[in-house]
Order: sequence, then C-alpha cells, then structure tokens
Amino acid sequence: MSNYHIKHLEEYYQVYRKSVRNPENFWEEIAEEHFVWRKRWNNVLRWDFTKPEVTWYEGAQLNITENCIDRHLRTRGDKTAILFEPNDPNEQAEHISYQQLYERVNQFANVLKEQGIAKGDRVCIYLPMIPELAISVLACARIGAIHSVVFAGFSSTALATRINDSDCKMVITADGSFRGPKTIDLKSIVDEGLEECPCVETVLVAKRTHATIPMKEGRDKWLQPLLDSADTQCEPEIMNAEDPLFILYTSGSTGKPKGMVHTNAGYMVYTAFTFKNAFQYREDDVYWCTADIGWITGHSYIVYGPLANGATTILFEGVPNYPDWGRFWEVVEKHKVNQFYTAPTAIRALAKENLDFVEKYNLSSLKVLGTVGEPINDEAWHWYDSNIGKKKCPIIDTWWQTETGGIMISPIPYATPTKPTYATLPFPGIQPALMDENGQEIKGNQVDGRLCIKFPWPSMARTIWGNHERYRDTYFSAYKNMYFTGDGALRDEVGYYRITGRVDDVIIVSGHNLGTAPIEDSINEHPAVAESAIVGFPHDIKGNALYGYVILKETGESRDHTNLRIEINQIITEHIGPIAKLDKIQFTRGLPKTRSGKIMRRILRKIAAKDTSNLGDTSTLLNPEVVQDIIDNAL
Ligand code: PRX
Repeated sequence: MSNYHIKHLEEYYQVYRKSVRNPENFWEEIAEEHFVWRKRWNNVLRWDFTKPEVTWYEGAQLNITENCIDRHLRTRGDKTAILFEPNDPNEQAEHISYQQLYERVNQFANVLKEQGIAKGDRVCIYLPMIPELAISVLACARIGAIHSVVFAGFSSTALATRINDSDCKMVITADGSFRGPKTIDLKSIVDEGLEECPCVETVLVAKRTHATIPMKEGRDKWLQPLLDSADTQCEPEIMNAEDPLFILYTSGSTGKPKGMVHTNAGYMVYTAFTFKNAFQYREDDVYWCTADIGWITGHSYIVYGPLANGATTILFEGVPNYPDWGRFWEVVEKHKVNQFYTAPTAIRALAKENLDFVEKYNLSSLKVLGTVGEPINDEAWHWYDSNIGKKKCPIIDTWWQTETGGIMISPIPYATPTKPTYATLPFPGIQPALMDENGQEIKGNQVDGRLCIKFPWPSMARTIWGNHERYRDTYFSAYKNMYFTGDGALRDEVGYYRITGRVDDVIIVSGHNLGTAPIEDSINEHPAVAESAIVGFPHDIKGNALYGYVILKETGESRDHTNLRIEINQIITEHIGPIAKLDKIQFTRGLPKTRSGKIMRRILRKIAAKDTSNLGDTSTLLNPEVVQDIIDNAL
C-alpha cells in the first residue's frame, strides 16, 4: 500500500479503515518507509488521555533537519527548496537550493552554538517573512534548541509575555520589516518588550530594511557578520523522538496564551504525511502557502511538511493588496504555482475586488487550492472555485489547529468529492467524535455536536509549556478519554464534517484566534473603564469582528466617546496587537449577568449580530432591565 498517494475515494476508505483498525502498524509503516532515523523506536505508541500522556515512536532518535535537508542533497541538491518572493515585486525573487539551504542552516546553527545556545534552550524568533525566518527555525532544530516563533505583528507586551513564559535566552529579529507600502520598526518593538525580559542574553539582528537602529552593547549583535565567519558544516544534534521541537503560543478563552509544545518524531511524520496527501504534491511542483511562519500553518506547511518531502515551498513576504489586489495571481503566474493554500478571509477580501485583477494572469498551473483557519462560506468557496480554480482544481477545506500540529479533516484532492463549506472526511489515523451536552457520543449521520478526537495522532501537542494541568483541563477534562477541540461540527448524511465554529470564548477574526479574556483585561486597564465584555459578530471579510460592551467608571462617563474609543483600541494594540482591535464599542451602564455574576454572552452576541428577535429566557438574569437598554443603544 502506498500511504502517500491516495487517488480514489475507495482507496481512501481502505487506508482509513486500516489506520483505525491497527493504528500502530499504520504509523509504523509510514515512519519506516519515508524517513531517516538514527535509531529505531521500541514502541510506536503509548497513551493515556486521563493524565494525559502520549508518546509516539518512543526510543527512536533522529534529527528533523536531516529529514528536511540532508537526505535530499544527493538527488535534489540543486532543486529550489525555498523560493523567497519579496514584498516589492520589483525586487528579485531568491531561489535557495537544498544545497544552499543546508549550508545556510548549518552556518546559522553554528552561530547559535557560538552564542551559547545548547540543546533544550528556548530561542524566540520574531522575524518578518524573510529567508532568515525559515533558516533560523531549522537552525534551532539542527542543534536541538526549542524555537518559539512569535508572529511579528504582535505588540511588545505580547512578545514579552511569550518570551518570559518559556524563558527564552535569545531573540532573533530584524532591523525592520516591509509590509505592503509600510516599513515597520521591529527592533524598537523588541527593545521595548525586552525591558521586561531579564532571561534574554542575546539578540541577533538580521538586516532587511537597513534602517538605522540602536544596538544595545553586549546584548545585540548583527547576524550577517557572524554567519559569514561560521562553518557550513554542523553535525545535527541527535534528538529523542519525544524531545520538544518547538513551542507555539495560541490564545485561550481565559488567561495567558498557551505555549503548545510539539515534539520531534510524531510532528515530522504527520506533517510530512499530510502535506503529501492533502496537496498531492509531485516532484517538480511549486507549492505556495500564504500564511506567516508565525502561525502553525507556516510551521507545518511552509517549513517542515514541504521540506520533509523535498518540495519547493514559496516564502512570501508581501500582502495580497500590494502593489494591488492582483499580487497573489501575479506570483502564481510568475512561479507557475501548482498548489495554493490561503485563508477564507483573504479570499473574501479578494472577491470584493474587480475580477480584472484575476483575469490578467495565467493561472493554468494551479492543481489544488486549499483553505484554512476558519469556516469558509458558500460564496467565497464558489468564487475561489470558479475564478481561481476555473472549476478544475479541487478545493481542500482543511480543518486543524495549533494543538493538532497538522491537517485533521480535509478532502484528499481528486479522491474525495468536495462539498462547499465542508471539510469533509478525517485524514487517515484521525478518529473524530461528536459529543452531546451530557458527554455522550452522538453516533450516526445528520447530527451535530461538539467535535472531539478519540484516539491519539502523531503530531498532537504533548503539553502546554510549564502547565500540564492547564493542558489537561483545557483539552481532556470536558469529555472522558477524548481530546476536545473547542469547535462545534455537524456530520451530514454521508459522514462529511462541516465545522460550525468555536463553542468557547475564542473568536476567530480574519483567521486569527483571539481569546476574549486577554482583550477584556487590557481594556479594563484604561483608567476610565470599569468593566467590559467582548463578543464576535459576523463580518463580510473578517468572518468575525469584535464588538465591545464597555461600562465606564463615573469619572469616564462625561468623556468624549470618540476619543475613548480610540484610546481603548490603542491599549489593545499595545497589549496584544492591531489584530485584536474592536470594530464596535458600545458604552453601556450594565452587562446582563446571571445570579452567580457570570456575563450572559449569548445575549450580547445576539445583540451584536442584530438578531434580537429571540433572546431566550432572560428571567434568570440578575438585572434583566439592562437588556433593553443595550438593545436600544446598539451600534
Ligand atoms: O475554530 C477552528 C478554526 O481555527 C481554529 C484553530 O485555530 P489555530 O490554532 O490558530 O489554527 C489555525 C490554522 C490551523 C479551530 O479550532 N479553523 C481552522 N481551520 C478551519 C477552522 N474552522 C473551520 N474550517 C476550517 N477549515
């Protein structure tokens, strides 16, 4: 059986059945056939969801960079591994071959070592989408340092929280970044953040914008001269299967962001397997995922998954609307992209623009179109299918999470018939379950419930950095012996899944996960604010936008509301980043609360969505009278 090329639906079902009947054999065969190991495993899988504890390929030893780089040198040394497409279309694209990638990763790994980084140390990477980002990720993996990439759109406070949570010794950043027509001073964000981070000893600075920036004596070092004098050979550190590979933070509904920990062997096997099958990648294809490496999509499907398959992966620095809304399609034509993977929010934004931006370009190279990050609505799905895929490219709506490490539910192109807005069928090895409110599994089709996974898969996060209890509480306590995803889903008459959205207080805005609690905490720091509640409401392009209900202290009540709104969004930008800004802010005298003091967000969500016809039972509220007042003043 070729696990790598599923070509028909019947073959999918065969592979799927096998993967469920004997998961250990299934994952053992894949690991044996497709990777290089320094030492074989003793145990394919051990697991106990009550603790929870999961180990895959225990006893095995490897280095993921040998799998992503070294082993390709003999046959693919001159093949482009990373194709860097800069923000400015007039700047030349850079083709980095596997041989060059090998040398650059090794040089970077040697620099890390010289700078005192050793196996197990945490390194924070805060870089724009330039080659150094992928290279530094791989360099960490080469020497067994644990990378923690922080998306370079996060604020200094958000960066500092993440650095401190995992005690990073080093930060890798740049003098600045380009984003469409703008230049962003990244280094000053880092400098500000680091005022709160005593754990950081060294900052390596890549040059991108060539801006003049302050360098702190003894702490900050320019990267390039160090790389220039570093050796191009660096022996890979031999890692145990379950040694951490990286930490990546994701928002929770409450509290600080959660540092999800992914380990070496299982993550490698699963991301490589899913990349090959979800995108049906063939040897000379050019693959492009438009995500940022600061998110899990970039980790798994720009860096590790594609490189483990010896693929050519595009690393795009720009944005969809610079210099104009045709940029994506210009890049597709220029590099003859075969697989294209983006977010529904980008598709909705593109669909609003004139079709001339699409029709100017030759998109005939495209074979597979993917989406990820949030539910895709019917209209966006059809626009993508007709105008980009010309009805010839299967659309893979891939459902997964930072926590799952890789794609969990998705069509297999050319095997699974697609259905608009449906992520369709679970990947081989993935056993979804829908649960009801009483903790019982809902069997059969044409049902909906809360989406859980009832059997481990190789790339699941193993813990939350420094807080295993929170890991258990968040994911393994809602349903016995199940991983709870936080999403709701329905299963149709043929067993296809459609993800309906979060069932907790996480809101997905433009594909970014935002927890309500951290946003409320930052708003509440405004001296005029007494209390606040955030909910999501439907938005044409972003999917959801944020609506804030804010109670002012008496001192704030007479203030100019326009200015207050600006100040509140400024605070959010400082604490989290511009992605968490509120679209609407309603000042109110009260919030609907239960007798135990809990805010009834269900009511606030309905008001924000202008759907007040059926607010349900409000009689149990402590203060039912505020509801009408909020409705009367809704924005
Ligand atoms: O609600 C689901 C939504 O995004 C959440 C995970 O977000 P994050 O960890 O940031 O990872 C995003 C990229 C993998 C999920 O719990 N989500 C992701 N993909 C889909 C989706 N919702 C519907 N359809 C999808 N294809």
